[in-house]
Amino acid sequence: MTDGADLDRLRSLRGIKWARDGGDMLAAWVADMDFLPAPVAIEAVRGVAERGDFGYSRHAVSRIPEVWADWQERHHGWRPDVGRLRLFADVLHPIDLALWLHTEPGDGIVLLTPIYPPFIHAAEHGGRRLIDCRLDLDGWRLDAERLEACIDDRTRAILTCNPHNPTGRVFDRSELEAIAEVAERHDLLILSDEIWADLLHPGTKHLPMALVSPEAAARTVTISAASKSFNLAGLRTAIAHVGHQGVADAFDAMPSHALGGLSTPGLEATLACWTEGEPWLAEVRQHLTAQRDHLARRLARDLPAVGFQLPEATYLNWLDCNPLGLGSEPTALFREHGVALSPGSDFGSHGLGWVRLNVATSREILDQIIDRMVAAVASATRAATT
Ligand SMILES: Cc1ncc(COP(=O)(O)O)c(C=O)c1O
Repeated sequence: MTDGADLDRLRSLRGIKWARDGGDMLAAWVADMDFLPAPVAIEAVRGVAERGDFGYSRHAVSRIPEVWADWQERHHGWRPDVGRLRLFADVLHPIDLALWLHTEPGDGIVLLTPIYPPFIHAAEHGGRRLIDCRLDLDGWRLDAERLEACIDDRTRAILTCNPHNPTGRVFDRSELEAIAEVAERHDLLILSDEIWADLLHPGTKHLPMALVSPEAAARTVTISAASKSFNLAGLRTAIAHVGHQGVADAFDAMPSHALGGLSTPGLEATLACWTEGEPWLAEVRQHLTAQRDHLARRLARDLPAVGFQLPEATYLNWLDCNPLGLGSEPTALFREHGVALSPGSDFGSHGLGWVRLNVATSREILDQIIDRMVAAVASATRAATT
């Protein structure tokens, strides 16, 4: 299952994860998996190439909405209204557009922090105001009172991702209801990025925001893609369910090509994954859970000072390195020892001293990553005591 996660192949790739640093660096930062993508996706792209099928195509575009609706129903018990589905080049595309169209300079956009860095840019762009609602440090739960207290009279939207990046939390019904209630009281648009919903660890269940209540569904734009779960980020295909009528009208009022068109390989690969990708995904999930548990065991044994709460979803792991005394940017030291991690500071001010570690690789590479981190901490400790 971990086919392709070997250093020779990874170092030959042109994608940013491994190519950015090159050399001997071990890449555990951006959210791509080291395995080959789902074979059905590779077959789909190969089929397009072998047929020379590069002409204008309606095949996948016309099928994906139904296929995604089926997928949602099978996996999450939600049957989206196909008439409200729109295709986009990536998940951030409808997010940026909806915020741009729905808000004005000075308007506030709530983020549940720490948070995926592009959300910070989306919320601050064009004179909008980021409203920082911190999740509880203990368990990464949403504090409904804190959320309510954050809202001011120019708050217009809440941008969430569930499952949550970087903490790996899967919000439960009570937390989602709290978001929906606050949104209802203050007439907020809810942008619910559910791109990670298919990479759950055992024992958790994803509840789509649109299922929380009819009122929540009518103020939510839900966005998803096959890119995380099937390892297709470069293929640029995403889907949004535009439940919020104002945003739907704003999208529809745009010139017909302003939303962009999509490329056949990405569409065909996405279609293949959502129709035939389940067995592969089940194996990936098992492996990712084993990787998470292995990381937890090794941290407890070799870096016990590092703060770590088991993620419920994703292959991202959010580590508090503050107790190590490495300062606010510990990634610098880890880089010197050959490991590229995502700097916590990119995820907002609550991320200072934290790092995000991507375990979607082979066991062997994960062990090398941890060994290097252990060596880095040992060298810093030696330097501090001599
Ligand atoms: C929460 C979240 N949303 C969106 C994306 C980007 O996905 P895409 O490139 O498919 O738009 C990521 C990537 O890691 C993510 O974690």
